[in-house]
Amino acid sequence: MNTETNSTTPTNPAHAVIMGGTSGIGLATAQRLHASGMRVTVTGRDAARADAAKRAIDQNGARVDAVALDASDAQAVAAFFAKLGPLDHLVLALGGGKGFGMFRELALDDVLGGFTSKALPHLVSAQAALGTIRKGGSITFITAVSAQMASPGTAGLAAINGALSCAVPALAVELRPLRVNAVSPGVIDTPWWDALPADQRSAALASYAEKAPVGRVGAPDDIAKAVEFLTGNTFMTGQTLVCDGGLSLV
Ligand SMILES: NC(=O)c1ccc[n+]([C@@H]2O[C@H](COP(=O)([O-])OP(=O)(O)OC[C@H]3O[C@@H](n4cnc5c(N)ncnc54)[C@H](OP(=O)(O)O)[C@@H]3O)[C@@H](O)[C@H]2O)c1
Repeated sequence: MNTETNSTTPTNPAHAVIMGGTSGIGLATAQRLHASGMRVTVTGRDAARADAAKRAIDQNGARVDAVALDASDAQAVAAFFAKLGPLDHLVLALGGGKGFGMFRELALDDVLGGFTSKALPHLVSAQAALGTIRKGGSITFITAVSAQMASPGTAGLAAINGALSCAVPALAVELRPLRVNAVSPGVIDTPWWDALPADQRSAALASYAEKAPVGRVGAPDDIAKAVEFLTGNTFMTGQTLVCDGGLSLV
């Protein structure tokens, strides 16, 4: 059997690839999976940030690789997976904040930008990994709770993230026994919010903390724990796990 394709045997240690793993939710996920004993590969566009993430995961670089890769470049993504070899778990945590804003004023180019910088790279990466991901392994998309809540200003984000969430059940059936899930985070304190001026950033996070039933916004590791659950629980597939401190309930 060609071990480079359709691998059925878990790699030893298990190998997780976290795309968008150089910051925020993806970095916390890489740290958590690495601490559980996995080998991890993280990707992000910025090479210096990728190097810093590698050191943050393990000072000595043990069981960790970091690769500078723009996931919106389909050819580069295909070349990355072709070179990488077998993997067990793929986590798709990349994306920015394009598509946010009140609908009347929302530039639809910005919504298209959200699709091309998040939804499409997630699907491109998942497809490119299929040749080498273990059949009994998993893919986990990081979507966003905008797709589950009705909050003014988030229709664009809901469309982009909802597209991924809607694809998850069909992928889980089509790609079985590979498991496919998503985690839908609420408001998480990460550099994602740095696009706002500092005072608006803190005001927004404080307001979401007050609104959420748990009384706080999330930390990246809150989402990393949800991803770890989905990668590890072999009875979970086709689901979007909302991890939002109850924000979508109120
Ligand atoms: N923070 C929140 O409140 C929140 C809430 C709901 C959902 N989310 C979602 O969670 C995911 C992670 O966000 P985060 O909060 O952890 O943000 P973050 O700290 O800004 O991390 C984003 C990561 O994605 C990478 N990235 C962005 N575009 C990329 C591309 N084209 N190719 C490769 N890597 C790319 C970034 O690295 P480079 O910039 O170096 O490429 C970085 O590693 C995003 O999809 C976001 O929509 C976040």
